[in-house]
Amino acid sequence: MAPTAASPDSAADVLVVFGISGDLARKMTFRALYRLEARGLLDCPVVGVAIDPWDDESLRDHARAAVRGSVEAPDEEALERLAARLSYVQGDYADADTFERLREAVAGRRRPVFYLEVPPSLFATVVRGLGSAGLTPGARVVIEKPFGHDLASARALDAELRTVLAEEQILRIDHYLGKEPVLDISYLRFANSILEPVWNREHVSHVQMTIAEDFGVEDRGRFYDSVGALRDVVQNHALQVLGLIAMEPPAGNRPDAVREKKLELLRAVRAADPRRYVRGQYAGYREIDGVAPDSRTETFAALELEVDNWRWAGVPFFVRAGKRLPVKASEVSVVFKRPPRLGVGSGRTPEPNRMTIRIEPRPGARMRLWAKEGGGDAFAPADLEVLFEKSPGSDPEPYERLLGDALAGREELFTRQETVEETWRIVQPLLDEPGELHTYEPGSWGPPAADALTRGVTAWSEPWMP
Ligand code: BG6
Repeated sequence: MAPTAASPDSAADVLVVFGISGDLARKMTFRALYRLEARGLLDCPVVGVAIDPWDDESLRDHARAAVRGSVEAPDEEALERLAARLSYVQGDYADADTFERLREAVAGRRRPVFYLEVPPSLFATVVRGLGSAGLTPGARVVIEKPFGHDLASARALDAELRTVLAEEQILRIDHYLGKEPVLDISYLRFANSILEPVWNREHVSHVQMTIAEDFGVEDRGRFYDSVGALRDVVQNHALQVLGLIAMEPPAGNRPDAVREKKLELLRAVRAADPRRYVRGQYAGYREIDGVAPDSRTETFAALELEVDNWRWAGVPFFVRAGKRLPVKASEVSVVFKRPPRLGVGSGRTPEPNRMTIRIEPRPGARMRLWAKEGGGDAFAPADLEVLFEKSPGSDPEPYERLLGDALAGREELFTRQETVEETWRIVQPLLDEPGELHTYEPGSWGPPAADALTRGVTAWSEPWMP
């Protein structure tokens, strides 16, 4: 699914990137802008704002270097078209003059998109500056997680932003929602009439989600140590994916249908139970630069969630996420009930069927069925597999898609405040009562206590790797 061109009345007529000299811009934003440019989907000027003493030319040089450093063999013509769109406003975000200069730079533009690539502690400062300079009417403001660090601070942040902006003007990025396989979840679920009748507690035994990374946090110790696995990926990415896996079918062709159903589902998720939560920290984490020597931050989190509705009551949803695990893999599996033992397969009980959606690596889906082992009498997997991407690198990348959507005025893939608050409500008891912190060996699947969490229902399954 490629992003489509914007309708003229909602399309942005200028993109302003605050924090253009930072790491995220270097690694992600210029690449995303370049990819949009190369596809013919960028058609407005781009103004960068930061404190560094740059000018238009140094910003263009920086953009060229960032694109060449992150895109293999970029199309030089597209890169020059992008460079020609760029201009720079230098200044401190706390200084009204910065916003005056910005006002001159965007004079005559009616639908700006302001992208705040700044630390969350500066969101309110920048938004106030925009408001005081009269730059917010008709504007959209894109912000990046973390949206607060718990329920109360998420509400406080929103209250600050809302003094200047309406909810519809705020586009909250969860980059997982821009991933092609995550979008595919709704397509697979709702375009296949064989799935709907079995996608419920009558037929599903449990759901498992794994977000595993085989690397640590060496390059971002200070940031990570104030966050931890639960806030970093569970409260946002994992809950968003589970929302899509478990929500009711969206009805009517309205842009908000999916967001509404996902929110409804999250409302039905019980606040997590601290007794069904296991935290771990990998051995060696405390030696990382920026990490407190006595840090209690978890680098691994495993939990069980329950959904109180007719479709899912009684079906456990297990989630685990961590750094320094054996592989980098992100997937969700819906595991069906085990069939009874019958007079085939020498009276053995077959393993349950499972539908796995692999987000990372090589996005795809697999339905595990069972057939007869060739020549023998045991059960053997007869997998139906599909890889979503037709050729590597051809699908839009998350930031490319989301930035393109923000510019085009498509809001569906951004998270509304109500949803942010529901997800904080779900994990809040685990923040209030984090419990024991287990140490685990780097390269293992986290602390053994995580295995006990699923006992009686299942075991964590090894990710499906290409
Ligand atoms: C980010 C987290 O939101 O998601 C990172 O802050 C994590 O810690 C990343 O590594 C995972 O997403 P992806 O797309 O890089 O697999």
